[in-house]
Amino acid sequence: MTGSMHGKSEISLTGNDDAVSVHGKSKSSPTDNGPAVSVHGKSMSSLTGNGPAVSVLGISGSPHRHGNTETLLDSFLDGAKDVGAEVAKVVIKNLIYRTCQGCNACHKDGVCILTDDFTPLFEKILSVDVLVLASPIYSMGITAELKSLVDRAQPLWARKFVLKNLYFDYDHIQSHKGLFISTAGQSWDNVFDGAFPIVNAFFSDMGFEYYDNVIANKMDEYGGINGHPSALDDAFATGQKVVRVVKKIKKERASKKEADESVQTPPVVE
Ligand SMILES: Cc1cc2nc3c(=O)[nH]c(=O)nc-3n(C[C@H](O)[C@H](O)[C@H](O)COP(=O)(O)O)c2cc1C
Repeated sequence: MTGSMHGKSEISLTGNDDAVSVHGKSKSSPTDNGPAVSVHGKSMSSLTGNGPAVSVLGISGSPHRHGNTETLLDSFLDGAKDVGAEVAKVVIKNLIYRTCQGCNACHKDGVCILTDDFTPLFEKILSVDVLVLASPIYSMGITAELKSLVDRAQPLWARKFVLKNLYFDYDHIQSHKGLFISTAGQSWDNVFDGAFPIVNAFFSDMGFEYYDNVIANKMDEYGGINGHPSALDDAFATGQKVVRVVKKIKKERASKKEADESVQTPPVVE
């Protein structure tokens, strides 16, 4: 099967509906050397003035705009923003991409033969501190949208396990947190079980620790996410928590680096 084409050419990187394009341009210039990605006119690497900057990227794999899953993701991102994170959201449905062709060319050089909206998205994924994958449960698993992204990570997998030229060390993984957000119609407690291993594999390929889930079932019973007694608050609190955790790790590392450097610097002799 050839890949699917979806909607618009921009990657949505705002917490709003649509359209802040990567590098301020359409996908036709994915190799531009400009600043990685700007969100609200700021570089993702800029400091917030409130401790080390923490960047959070939420990827919505739901085809249903502003449905249960994206609403839960938005609440998480609001929580992250509330404690000073720089947040961005990408809606896969809005991207133009093709699915993995299974050609295994990436096993030879670690590079995908396809260039489309997923190309800069992978660069962005690798640049953030916190990565959030969001998908409703469709047919006991993640959506086709999110699975398409996961399959396109094969070049990263190939670099790690075939070519062995990509390695994320412990410090990197510890300070890069991945979270999964999901909703499901059914009340069955194990309804998310089919999704977890896929999400785990993706985070592992990308160098993120699989940190937590925000999951809410019984959407049919509650009449949607807004009828759920605690999920939106939980998502907000988890967004706050993970940013604080990453901020603390970064702060401790910066202090340690400073201390190490001051020990190593020889005293100035007059
Ligand atoms: C095609 C399709 C398949 C679904 N499969 C399941 C399923 O296997 N188990 C389940 O609990 N809910 C299932 N649902 C219900 C959705 O998971 C649920 O309504 C979810 O909250 C939708 O989120 P959204 O508003 O972001 O699309 C399915 C819904 C659709 C449209």
